[in-house]
Amino acid sequence: MTIYNFCAGPAMLPTAVMRKAQQEFCDFQSLGVSVMELSHRSAEYMAVAEKAEQDLRELMAIPDNYAVLFLHGGARGQFSAVPLNLLGEGKALYLETGQWSVGAANEAEKFGAIDRVDLRCDAQTLDLGRIPDTSGYRYVHYCPNETVDGVALYDDLPMDAPLVADLSSCILGRELDVSRFALLYAGAQKNIGPAGLTLVIVRRDLLGQADRRCPAILDYGLNAQYDSMYNTPPTFAWYLAGEVFQWLKQHGGVAAMAELNRAKAKRLYDFIDASDFYSNAVAPRHRSEMNVTFQLADAELDKRFLAEAEAAGLRALKGHRLVGGMRASIYNAMPMAGIEALVQFMAEFERSHR
Ligand SMILES: Cc1ncc(COP(=O)(O)O)c(C=O)c1O
Repeated sequence: MTIYNFCAGPAMLPTAVMRKAQQEFCDFQSLGVSVMELSHRSAEYMAVAEKAEQDLRELMAIPDNYAVLFLHGGARGQFSAVPLNLLGEGKALYLETGQWSVGAANEAEKFGAIDRVDLRCDAQTLDLGRIPDTSGYRYVHYCPNETVDGVALYDDLPMDAPLVADLSSCILGRELDVSRFALLYAGAQKNIGPAGLTLVIVRRDLLGQADRRCPAILDYGLNAQYDSMYNTPPTFAWYLAGEVFQWLKQHGGVAAMAELNRAKAKRLYDFIDASDFYSNAVAPRHRSEMNVTFQLADAELDKRFLAEAEAAGLRALKGHRLVGGMRASIYNAMPMAGIEALVQFMAEFERSHR
């Protein structure tokens, strides 16, 4: 039976990447050791690290005046690092669109002055009209794809202040103009590779401004100066991310992924909308293409739905504990066949349980 893994993260990775990693796991480039046993400063590993960065720069068309950092600490680490590096004595604006952007604001508050604005009219619609004049803020932080809520903010935001975005669950899933942002960050465990690696893409003129109290490992300037090797980087995760970047390039890059992701999400939302057994109440223009949340009309059936889905090879469809219901996370590595299998299962479940 083919297994499709809809986990929100750590999420499924491309099978071809996993197979290649498996093949060279114990003997990397005929060195007789695993890539995870190599010094991060060895010529062989440095080549892996540099290629990964080069490929990412190509995939995202990252301009030269941006540094790319391969760090530890997850996106939550960046919730602290962003204010510690960028806030200074100024004030930042945090846009709230769901669980993660609220989490980022809660953390930033520990380190300085921020304003928060909740864009959620209700659970389903965002009101961008609530965004105040942003000039004067040190930066504006937001989360374009709220993994838990299945809500996305696709609109281009006003750029009177430097923009900072948490791309954890949408990086490389659709095109993005990096030059519109001061800083982008993402935990790797959804669209990039294994957990343990965190990517930061930061405009170079913002380096070297960290607060005196900023821990060295969160200091962007220091990490850039040391090419992300101030401390031992997450070498295996970095290597595997590089393999995913190569896979992406072989499959048409971000543009091809974006087209496929749009088609995958449309197939699933269209099916849900056509049914009165399942529902998704997010306003269509704010529906996430990466995390499709849905509810069963009768929540009493949730447990049975999940058990039967697992038995049919459809893993990890349970919604986040904070919002309940179901969630299908359909990042780049999820093929259209996975969506078809899910839709077919949902149709059959509806027939036998209505
Ligand atoms: C959008 C978003 N931000 C932040 C996080 C937290 O990431 P981490 O667990 O890497 O700290 C997640 C994790 O799922 C996420 O989806």
